[in-house]
Amino acid sequence: MNNKNFYITTPIYYPSGKPHMGHAYSSIVADIFARFKRVEGYNVLFVTGTDEHGQKIEKEAKKNNKDTKIFCDELSNKFKTLTKILNLSNDDFIRTTEVRHHNSVIEIWNKLVDSGDIYLDKYSGWYSVSDEAFYDEDEIELQEGKKISKTSGSSVEWVEEESYFFKLSSWEKKLLEHYKKNSEFILPTSRKNEVISFVEKGLKDLSISRTSFSWGIPVPKNSKHVIYVWLDALTNYISALNFPDTDNEKYKNFWPADVHIIGKDILRFHAVFWPAFLLAAKLPLPKKIFGHGWILSDEKKMSKSLGNILDPIEIIEKYGVDQLRYYLVKEVSLGNDGSISMDNLKNCINNDLANNFGNLCQRVFSFIKKNCNNRIPENKNNNEIDKKLLDNLNKNIPNLINLMNKQNLNEYIKMVVGFSFEANKYFNDSEPWALKKSDQARMNSILNTVTQQIKNISILLYPIIPNSVKKVFNTININESDIKISNILNQNILNYKIELKDLEILFTKIENDN
Ligand code: MSP
Repeated sequence: MNNKNFYITTPIYYPSGKPHMGHAYSSIVADIFARFKRVEGYNVLFVTGTDEHGQKIEKEAKKNNKDTKIFCDELSNKFKTLTKILNLSNDDFIRTTEVRHHNSVIEIWNKLVDSGDIYLDKYSGWYSVSDEAFYDEDEIELQEGKKISKTSGSSVEWVEEESYFFKLSSWEKKLLEHYKKNSEFILPTSRKNEVISFVEKGLKDLSISRTSFSWGIPVPKNSKHVIYVWLDALTNYISALNFPDTDNEKYKNFWPADVHIIGKDILRFHAVFWPAFLLAAKLPLPKKIFGHGWILSDEKKMSKSLGNILDPIEIIEKYGVDQLRYYLVKEVSLGNDGSISMDNLKNCINNDLANNFGNLCQRVFSFIKKNCNNRIPENKNNNEIDKKLLDNLNKNIPNLINLMNKQNLNEYIKMVVGFSFEANKYFNDSEPWALKKSDQARMNSILNTVTQQIKNISILLYPIIPNSVKKVFNTININESDIKISNILNQNILNYKIELKDLEILFTKIENDN
């Protein structure tokens, strides 16, 4: 069996409104890791989708005077379109209204019944429809006469209804043991500590069915109840592997998941409820849950009322998809909240992309076109300076892989951008234009070295800016399938015989009034 399998997921999104920057962020981050693992040589499964049941969606459909399923179809399609616009490399798009998911949720429910973890009682307490979450008295506060959740700020309502409960309290010890034994189960560490202190305070049993609306998967043998949307939604991660058929190749190869990428607001569901459900169902737990921070717009949380929502599609139409992908992960430190702004986006496009990597490719390829018959010169005698440039990147490969495997995206990018600065400087300092007449062999070494380095940097940048890198590889006649870490050390991948193709514009510089 190939043990180089890697399963990564995004949260599945509520199709309750059009996708915004927060959704785009979770997806882009997951896509970068998925692409990196493929470049590393792994067989990757990358799944995203939409979370379509529950009161929130039902309410929203009613508000829009739409049949709930039709409403879901329309909005889920918007999220599907977004995967294309963001250039996500997802292998699957799961919808919780699909039959494959329904079967999987029923099986999980039955397993929890069989293990004795479900009982019928009555729920009375606070519920936020917007978060689809139950809150304790100490988790809510009064603001302008309205009860709201302290953490999310969304309004809560009092709910009293018959409900099935999951014996979450009985999994407290096991969960704490698991967090302790698996130090990277929840990352970053600050989030892990948050979860541990929440669990240490004591877990209450969890209401896992609702009776006051009907948009959901009915509880087996008691269709008055629908299954709580979070139990339903979390199960998507195994529905996508054809669960309950645990003998099929997909499930065998990809469960447990290597990492669930999520936002910090949905940590409790993923790091407490989901593992508890899985423990009770006697299924393996995912290896890692990474909770990223929030994207803030001009230092504030994006909200309709503040009017500071940044629309990813608008930005992409104006500046390009790679530009947005790069900017988001360069600007925001992955585990923390981070502010984005249009000014910084423009500066980032100009400085990091247009003036640095874009400029490097542009200058080198046009020099080769003009002076070398438009073919990369073959080279056998690198001097110490050439070797140093290439070695500095080569020796850092294990380091770079390690950074990505620890989701340290920001350090990774910093390092790769550093290589690009270095390569630009090398090209400037070596002055190949001055050698054309005096020392062609040396000029060829320089051009060969810098093209090797462009190829290497491109491989490393591919997960982040795949479209632009594809243009570079197209120019130097290398196939996308050869974008592999192993080809960084492979100098023979460069094609010396064929003419370079013209480089399509990589990044247009943004003028200030743009
Ligand atoms: N449906 C649930 C997830 C179920 S997963 C089994 C859900 N959906 S959501 O559409 O509300 O949010 C999905 C993701 O978007 C979450 O990871 C959330 O953190 C992320 N973001 C929403 N707004 C955000 C920002 N402003 N910044 C960064 N990400 C945020 O929750």
